[in-house]
Amino acid sequence: MPQNARHIVLVRRPKGALRSDDFAVRTGVLGDPAAGEVLVRNLWLSLDPYMRLTMSEQGGLHGTVPLETALPGSSVGEVIASASDDLPVGSMVVSRTYGWRDHYLAPAHELLPLPAAPGPIQRYLGLYGLTGITAWGGLFGVLKPQPGETLFVNAAAGAVGMVVVQLAKRAGARVIASAGSDAKCAWTTEVLGADHAINYRSEDLAARLAELAPEGLAMAFDNVGGEQLEILIDAMAPRGRIALCGAIALYDGANYRAGPGNLFATVEKHVSITGFNAGFYFADAPRIIAELAAAEAEGALVDEETIVEGLEAMPQGFIDMMAGASRGKMLVRV
Ligand SMILES: NC(=O)c1ccc[n+]([C@@H]2O[C@H](COP(=O)([O-])OP(=O)(O)OC[C@H]3O[C@@H](n4cnc5c(N)ncnc54)[C@H](OP(=O)(O)O)[C@@H]3O)[C@@H](O)[C@H]2O)c1
Repeated sequence: MPQNARHIVLVRRPKGALRSDDFAVRTGVLGDPAAGEVLVRNLWLSLDPYMRLTMSEQGGLHGTVPLETALPGSSVGEVIASASDDLPVGSMVVSRTYGWRDHYLAPAHELLPLPAAPGPIQRYLGLYGLTGITAWGGLFGVLKPQPGETLFVNAAAGAVGMVVVQLAKRAGARVIASAGSDAKCAWTTEVLGADHAINYRSEDLAARLAELAPEGLAMAFDNVGGEQLEILIDAMAPRGRIALCGAIALYDGANYRAGPGNLFATVEKHVSITGFNAGFYFADAPRIIAELAAAEAEGALVDEETIVEGLEAMPQGFIDMMAGASRGKMLVRV
């Protein structure tokens, strides 16, 4: 039976900060699934900063999305028609590419069936999905915190950052968090357990780091890049380790790959900078998710979501997330 479907496209190539009229909702009709395919109704759509790069000429790892083409992204949905024995009607699936739309047809082998686990299914886009695995990978795959060491993390009230704060505390580190409002900073200390928080918009980040870690930072988990990365390089202790996770401060600009101007300070202080990509940890996802679930069961891991209602609200939701309006993982409920 034909299915009416809606998806979001870009109508112009955004320059600088996004505007809601850079986007439009388009409608279409999907036919029945062909052999090996399924028809999926999306229930949850993920909002992730890397999407800003796919919208620009920068492209990033995932390339530039042409105008008037459904935007890619992750989603969780339910199979509502199936021509595949692997995914019968009623199966819940995660897709890494069929976000920004309410329905889609896809080959069953492109989708990940969700385990019949307790808890909200949208977590497979956040804590048990990309952002939780990213936090785990940067922390335990790269930084390897030792008890008593000081770790700094920015965008600490966001999807990746909130998990980093809590897992680092559980590993015995002293955590200095940074976020863009006093309310977010208070949340990182009072709820997530950070030892200190710095509002980078109203405080001098370099001066506060010098005050809170006069001996220098043993570790930094950098979600922001740009000027903040330069400040972190200067704030590192000798033999300090930086995990380079993202550079959201540069995603609206012309070159998100631009390096820090003070790179040679890493030579002088024997500081390591390791970039990492969550994709390198996907094969370990079941083990990582089991660890996150164990931390949660101990009461050491709070999950937080900011939810936007409806596909039409997704573009503004994305703009708001990039500007700092969300706390925890931002999701769209379709
Ligand atoms: N390496 C990987 O595999 C991987 C995977 C996933 C995500 N990432 C990266 O991880 C970072 C966080 O992603 P997320 O999904 O957890 O997003 P998020 O932190 O939930 O949302 C982004 C936050 O970044 C902060 N921000 C935006 N512009 C900023 C600026 N100019 N300076 C400082 N902070 C700024 C805002 O919070 P404030 O209110 O605090 O400003 C905003 O809410 C991003 O850089 C993303 O690209 C990397």
